[in-house]
Amino acid sequence: MTKRKTIIAGNWKMFKTRKEAAELASAVAAGVKGEKDLPEVVLIPPFTSIESAINNVKGSPVAVGAQNMDWRENGAFTGEVSPVMLTELGVTYVLIGHSERRQFFGETNGTVNNRLKAALEHKLTPIVCVGETLDERESGLTDSVVRRQVAAALADIPAEALAVIVVAYEPVWAIGTGKVCEADEANRVLGQIRATIADLYKECGNSELAENVPLLYGGSVKPSNIEEQMAKPEIDGALVGGASLKAEEFLPLIKAGQKRVKDSLSKV
Ligand code: 13P
Repeated sequence: MTKRKTIIAGNWKMFKTRKEAAELASAVAAGVKGEKDLPEVVLIPPFTSIESAINNVKGSPVAVGAQNMDWRENGAFTGEVSPVMLTELGVTYVLIGHSERRQFFGETNGTVNNRLKAALEHKLTPIVCVGETLDERESGLTDSVVRRQVAAALADIPAEALAVIVVAYEPVWAIGTGKVCEADEANRVLGQIRATIADLYKECGNSELAENVPLLYGGSVKPSNIEEQMAKPEIDGALVGGASLKAEEFLPLIKAGQKRVKDSLSKV
C-alpha cells in the first residue's frame, strides 16, 4: 500500500479578503483540532490574505501556500512576489503553473520550470499543475499534452527533488464547470504522469522515486464526488477551488482525505 502523503489543498483563487480569510482559516483549523491521521491540509489564499490565514492556523497542522511566485529573489519586476517574501511569511507550499496562470497570464512550460527550481531552492513544497484543454482532449491529445507539461516542468530537476514535488492533474475543462473528470480516467492520467516521471529518471537509475510523488486530482471536486476519487490508487489527494471557499464544504473533503490515510495505515 502507498506510503505517499495524502494532501487536501484549497486554492482560494481571487477570493477572500483578509477578514474573510481569517474567518475561513480559523474555521478550518477548528474543524481539524484534535483529529488524528489527518491528510496534509493546505490553504492557498491570494497574496494579500496569506498573512491573515497564517495567523489564524497557528498551532494547528494546517499549512498555507501561495498561488504563484516569481523565480527571482528580488529585482525590478513590478507586480511580482518572490520566494523569499513568501518564506518570510511562513508559507510552505506554492502552486506552480496553474492553468489559469497559463491561460490568462502567459505562463509557459519554461517559466514553470524556472519557478519549480526556485521553489526547491527556497524549500517551498511545489504543487506543479498540469492538464489539457477541452479541445486537446477532444483531439485525443490528453496524454501527450500532459506528458509534455510534466517533462518540461522537470527539466534539469535532480532526482532527489522527487521526494518533495507534488503534481496535480487539473483538466482545464473540469475546472469550475461542475464537470468532474471520472475517477477512472483521472486515475489513468495520473498513472501516465507517474510513468512519465519514472521514464524521465530512468537513465540516472532513479525511476523508482516516481513512486513517492504525491499526485492530486483537481477540477470540480466536491464532498459528493471526492470519495470515489480518493478510492483510486493513483489519486493521493485533491486540489480544490470552489468547494474550498466554505468550511462546511472543505471540512468533509479533509474527512475524505483522513479516511484515505486511515485506510492506508490499516493495510500496512
Ligand atoms: P474547482 O474546484 O472550482 O473546479 O477549481 C479547481 C482548481 O482550479 C483548483 O486549483
